[in-house]
Amino acid sequence: MNPTSLNSSTTILLAILSIIGNTYYWVTFVNRTHASARLSHHVHRTLRKLHFLGISAWPVAMILFWNRGTDGQLTPSAFSQQSVLMQTLMLITGSGSALLLIQTIRWQVSGKRCFERCIEKNTIPLPRDREGTDFRGEPEGLGKLFPWNEIWSPQLTRKTVCVPANAASENPSAHPLRILHLSDLHFDGTPGTDFYRQVFNYCATLDFDLIVLSGDLTDDSERVPLLAELLAPLLSKAPGTFILGNHDWRISPDAIRRKMMAAGWIDLGGRHQVLETPAGAVWLSGNESPWQHQTPTPPPRDSDCLKILISHTPDNISTAISQGYDLMLSGHTHGGQVVLPMFGPVYCPSTYGPRYASGLFRAGSLWMHVTRGLGGLHHLRWRCSPEVTILEVSRHHSSAPNR
Ligand SMILES: [Fe+2]
Repeated sequence: MNPTSLNSSTTILLAILSIIGNTYYWVTFVNRTHASARLSHHVHRTLRKLHFLGISAWPVAMILFWNRGTDGQLTPSAFSQQSVLMQTLMLITGSGSALLLIQTIRWQVSGKRCFERCIEKNTIPLPRDREGTDFRGEPEGLGKLFPWNEIWSPQLTRKTVCVPANAASENPSAHPLRILHLSDLHFDGTPGTDFYRQVFNYCATLDFDLIVLSGDLTDDSERVPLLAELLAPLLSKAPGTFILGNHDWRISPDAIRRKMMAAGWIDLGGRHQVLETPAGAVWLSGNESPWQHQTPTPPPRDSDCLKILISHTPDNISTAISQGYDLMLSGHTHGGQVVLPMFGPVYCPSTYGPRYASGLFRAGSLWMHVTRGLGGLHHLRWRCSPEVTILEVSRHHSSAPNR
């Protein structure tokens, strides 16, 4: 069909698809560029502003430059009456709607299942403090305007995975490894200090064998001693490991590492360590690429250990697969920050876009857990509450999948 022959009602539909598609392209652009370590924080911030401008400017431009015909009214005049430039831009941006449809189908078919794959989900109770004032602080910026903001509604999720055990190991499933997976604390990003204190104290009542912090600990290295103090009840229960994320790298990675190690945390950035746990020996590696170029030694293929790669970004999944890890633990995406009812997660700084926004994913013999994380610098989460996970990893000789 010749597009210039489209009538008024089809033109309205095309205009709507054009606005939706334009939004999709800008969000995709900002997701992909934020996955890169080559651009500075300043450039990232500028691109973020540009994407807001691009999303809001296009509908305005359509109104301003819409060919209104001889009567000058803003009527849905046919596509053929628009300028060639307007027609071209409408078709280009409209194609984004088709890509969004493909992404939505993928989310509905598999992503949603990964997102929700947990055996238990509880909201962590956050009581008011002793003085009776709401300790959760004031939402700022966008969060203030949004009544369903979930940044102060953290959830504890329990998830289970089963990974194949080495044929030589005896009774591998005797004791599953219980990992407390925390990520993207962004201490003291959005919620106040008491938010973290309450959440960590609640976590200290749980049973776990190992703690993993998968990056973005803070946005202020001066706050690390206080963060370590709040985390101390957890560390008294099990060994704690950490790597750094892009936000830590942006400020002072060496200072953060030094202070965390001084508080008793094991630094796994660019290295590995074998830890003895009640579930047996665990090979733990930390991969901070693309922000750090030093990568850990891959585990021996015939090792009897459970092999875990901690990577801030899920983008290192192909490395985890090729190097024979059993499990990868990530964060970074904040679950998409906003999860739209039909379309799924929106903002994910990943080369895969929202594909690995949050949840449990299986690729060959590898399981990957991506947590939504606990904090964030942006003051809005919708249908994407902060998350703390207890991940139970059991091992069986059979290669039968999961749970
Ligand atoms: Fe983060």
